[in-house]
Amino acid sequence: MRHRFGDVFSLQLAWTPVVVLNGLAAVREAMVTRGEDTADRPPAPIYQVPGFGPRSQGRPFRPNGLLYKAVSNVIASLTCGRRFKDDPRFLRLLDLAQEGLKEETGFLREVLNAIPVLLRIPGLAGKVLHSQKAFLAQLGELLTKHRMIWNPAQPPQDLTDAFLAEMDKAKGNPESSFSDENLCMVVADLFLAGMVTTSTTLAWGLLLMILHLDVQRRVQQEIDDVIGQMRRPEMGDQARMPYTTAVIHEVQRFGDIVPLGVTHMTSRDIEVQGFHIPKGTTLFTNLSSVLKDEAVWEKPFRFHPEHFLDAQGHFVKPEAFLPFSAGRRACLGEPLARMELFLFFTCLLQGFSFSVPAGQPRPSHSRVVSFLVTPSPYELCAVPR
Ligand code: HEM
Repeated sequence: MRHRFGDVFSLQLAWTPVVVLNGLAAVREAMVTRGEDTADRPPAPIYQVPGFGPRSQGRPFRPNGLLYKAVSNVIASLTCGRRFKDDPRFLRLLDLAQEGLKEETGFLREVLNAIPVLLRIPGLAGKVLHSQKAFLAQLGELLTKHRMIWNPAQPPQDLTDAFLAEMDKAKGNPESSFSDENLCMVVADLFLAGMVTTSTTLAWGLLLMILHLDVQRRVQQEIDDVIGQMRRPEMGDQARMPYTTAVIHEVQRFGDIVPLGVTHMTSRDIEVQGFHIPKGTTLFTNLSSVLKDEAVWEKPFRFHPEHFLDAQGHFVKPEAFLPFSAGRRACLGEPLARMELFLFFTCLLQGFSFSVPAGQPRPSHSRVVSFLVTPSPYELCAVPR
């Protein structure tokens, strides 16, 4: 559509007119230069309704579930100060989070947002957001337990402790946003935004490694040269590992997991690339058009780590690398995600070699498009090195 209609075009999405921004120049102008006027999110009336095991070595397995659990435990440590293994309540929370993300798209949801009067039909919103509601209830239970063991005399150990301390300080202040409800929403946001994104990127990473064994071997060579096998990778190693860093960036560029970003809304009339966009317009940032821009990337539709290396093999990051979007509402978890991607990816390749299971066809690069873009389900074998 970009080729046909240009870098800024509008379309009618059911009842809502939206403007789609394509390419680095338009996305940067709207998100960075006019960042202050485009930082709103479009309203979603639907939310205003109240009440709202390890595998044997070498045997084929699907890595997604394990990656998802591992990444979830990072968020659990940050928000609740603990990790979970096979706790059924935590596993249910993870299932509900995944189901909840699927509820971010869907025809009925769009209809209810566009015609909020339908939300008066009892039970309809609850039906569309069934998993998100169940997720919030399950998370609420976890936080209630946390509150019972919270000791205000101790320095905060995690985000919930810090939030509870602020709630204590703000007692009696009706203006304060430090409330039980907001604690639950903040922790829920971090879980929902931080788990599936990072684990999906890692799932792309492992898929690309079994499809490009030469790249996998070069990454392992760099790990062996810089880190060796005697200790775990640390963030300090990254600066000495340009190839691995380039591969991780290329996994993100190629995986392109949030192709249309998250919608924004203009808070006043603006002009982007010479086009007038009125206040209150929904904006789609077509991040895919930036990450796969034929004018920027040598091989936009191929997996090519050299996109991030100069002629001397040094790491370089083109401006069009925008998987986290840009401007005031760019991904809040970007620094954490970067650390997770580097540490998980290098740890996995330090310890294992990954391959397509013998006798199985090579998986394809094909994509399953929902709110996020995930690789089509695939199996791999992991053999300790
Ligand atoms: C590879 C991993 C990740 C990718 C590709 C990613 C990508 C994005 C994108 C494209 C947005 C929308 C930005 C915009 O509206 O312009 C976003 C927003 C957000 N992300 Fe991430 N993200 C990742 C990981 C994380 C992690 C680990 C966390 C937190 C623990 C996180 C928390 C958030 C939050 C809270 C927002 C909403 C920010 C706001 O509304 O101001 N993300 N992310």
